[in-house]
Amino acid sequence: MRKPLIAGNWKMNGSVAGNKSLLDGILAGIGAVKTAGVAVCVPYIYIPEVAARLQGTSVAWGAQNVSTEAKGAFTGEIATSMLVDFHCQYVIVGHSERRTLYGETDTLVATKYGVVRAAGMTPILCVGETLQEREQGITEQVVARQINAVIQAHGVASLAKGVIAYEPVWAIGTGKTASPQQAQDVHAYIRSMLAKQDKTVAEGVVIQYGGSMNAQNAAELLAMPDIDGGLIGGASLKAEDFLTICKAANR
Ligand code: PGA
Repeated sequence: MRKPLIAGNWKMNGSVAGNKSLLDGILAGIGAVKTAGVAVCVPYIYIPEVAARLQGTSVAWGAQNVSTEAKGAFTGEIATSMLVDFHCQYVIVGHSERRTLYGETDTLVATKYGVVRAAGMTPILCVGETLQEREQGITEQVVARQINAVIQAHGVASLAKGVIAYEPVWAIGTGKTASPQQAQDVHAYIRSMLAKQDKTVAEGVVIQYGGSMNAQNAAELLAMPDIDGGLIGGASLKAEDFLTICKAANR
């Protein structure tokens, strides 16, 4: 049985005061979350404060990006060792906003995946097609290409301890969610392509759905057999909505 993971991706949102009330709200209701693992991936600068608040609770924390370099003259970058210093458990790699707005390539994302694993943290590898790619009927090729970049660099076994987030780009922040069946089809495809290389990895890998998952639609998405949780943007900024999604994974 795969343990579902619900991860909040706060993106570039938050403030000292706002984070405190959001985390207080999440922690107040977390006892009702029975099945899913829960994590928040927050802006770098808030990691120390979030770590201090969440330490000793059942909520894990992580970052939204990381440098491929270990240390040195890389102005503005953050190294994996710095995230480990603050006990980050997760790092999002290859989010579509990073691919699109900051030009991150499949190769760079694969390198990031590797440094995160090497540092003992869990990468959340984001994959997904644009609307144009879906309309061209090449969704499967796109996600296969994105995942194969990691497999080529680090081997299929490297996915055993990772998390894949299937996030159709057209559904992110748009309020347009993939239907449960649309999402399930791609999740099943990802598992089948992995199964051709390693059945155990395919069965074990956690595949989250992301893209306008919210308090209203989470239950039906999470009911699909190959959807193992969610990567939540907008709805992770409200404690009540985030908790509703986390509880929707209760089994
Ligand atoms: P959204 O973002 O839930 O706001 O669509 C999801 C994501 O980008 O991870």
